[in-house]
Amino acid sequence: MSATPLMIVVLAAGKGTRMKSSLPKVMHPVGGRAMLGHVLDLARASAADRIAVVVGPDMDDVKNAALAIAPGAEVYVQKDQLGTADALKAANPAIASHQGDVIVLYADTPLIEADTIARLRATLDAGAAVAVLGFDAADPDGYGRLLTEADGTLNAIREHKDASAYELQIRLCNSGVMAFRVPDLAGVLDRIGNANAKGEYYLTDAVEIVRADGGRAAVVRCPETEVLGVNSRVELAEAEAIFQNRRRHQVMLDGATLIAPETVWFSYDTVIGRDVTIQPNVYFGQGVTVEDGAEILANCHFERAHIGKGARVGPFARLRPGAKLGPDVRIGNFVEVKNLEMLEGSKANHLAYLGDGQVGPKANIGAGTIFCNYDGFFKHKTIIGAGAFVGSNSSLVAPVTIGEGAYIGSGSVISKDVSPGSLALERATQEERPGWAEKFRIMMTKRKAAAAKG
Ligand code: UD1
Ligand code: CA
Repeated sequence: MSATPLMIVVLAAGKGTRMKSSLPKVMHPVGGRAMLGHVLDLARASAADRIAVVVGPDMDDVKNAALAIAPGAEVYVQKDQLGTADALKAANPAIASHQGDVIVLYADTPLIEADTIARLRATLDAGAAVAVLGFDAADPDGYGRLLTEADGTLNAIREHKDASAYELQIRLCNSGVMAFRVPDLAGVLDRIGNANAKGEYYLTDAVEIVRADGGRAAVVRCPETEVLGVNSRVELAEAEAIFQNRRRHQVMLDGATLIAPETVWFSYDTVIGRDVTIQPNVYFGQGVTVEDGAEILANCHFERAHIGKGARVGPFARLRPGAKLGPDVRIGNFVEVKNLEMLEGSKANHLAYLGDGQVGPKANIGAGTIFCNYDGFFKHKTIIGAGAFVGSNSSLVAPVTIGEGAYIGSGSVISKDVSPGSLALERATQEERPGWAEKFRIMMTKRKAAAAKG
């Protein structure tokens, strides 16, 4: 890794009009994380010594999000959108006081990998004054073209609107990511004018200025998918698809089996252990960890939950925030768990709502059990002791504690604590009338015949 100090400047001042959204564009999520978050994560993964973020006026949300993700970031406001060079200039106080490399990233380009940034830095280490991340565009329309020599030297970047017919044939395009190792980048920015088709200050003009000063410019290539920029919700979905494919790939390389990977959705922070099997149609919201050997059956939805070693969950299970399953826990179909810990070997195999509390080791929760945790004003806890057995269709009205090894008779509404080892039942005594059914049938058959006669 390069020894030169690195500052990364993230441009996030764009209005993002085409998103048609009240949320600033860079706050839209990919894999459950704002695009801005992905780019700041990349800056950190690239061991940036300083991070600067350029936002537009009235973008306090973006500023605060940037500071929450990268607390040391320096945030600058670009007053008017006069072009990418003008945007970078907004960060001039940072740039002018920085001795070292500067890399410019766009906050709406969330899929770049740390490896690629490392290659840009290696290119600077090898003597380039500016290194531009380029890609071969399937459709180069709208992109700046990289004008190169046969030996790969970069001469200039020509914006689409300023390009000649000949230059428009070029498919090698500018991703927007540029790395600089120049003595006075602020001075370079000052020399950029706006005499071009758009009347904007183009950062891309820096290439020719640096070369005129005797610096060398180089291109580093990457796949087009990595530099996909998001302008509309259609591209947001494209970015999501690329992100998901990467994650699925990584999870499998890390030792999990995905039977139908294209149907499993991960978040940026999902952690999946080894020898985990995931059946089709599973959605991992933010903050989910799955330990080794767990099995996730089809059609589950998880969010801020933990699944312990060897646990089996689903099909059709929902783990909500604060669900914590210990080793070898079993959660079956149509079971919802929220803010509750299931200790080792406990089970809720069918149709249950378990919210707020704790289920002891090896306890068994029967079908149809509801933890009545909410009285319309407050949430209360249900605590189930080790080895307790809760019969089917029981309502446990919290706050309530069921002692170790206790039994709850099916269909009970339990609102008082149950001591260890007891049986608690809450139901009317069953009545039985011998021979009643036969008499009833005879009577009704006669009645029906009479009615038919009229
Ligand atoms: C830019 C590049 C082009 C490249 C393309 C890749 C320039 C002149 N052109 O073109 O070579 O192929 O990106 O997508 O750099 N921004 C600001 N303030 C501004 C203008 C832009 O913060 O005043 C930010 C935007 O939010 C965006 C990024 O800079 O994140 C790029 O701006 P945009 O106007 O989309 O540049 P392009 O014309 O697409
Ligand atoms: Ca753009």
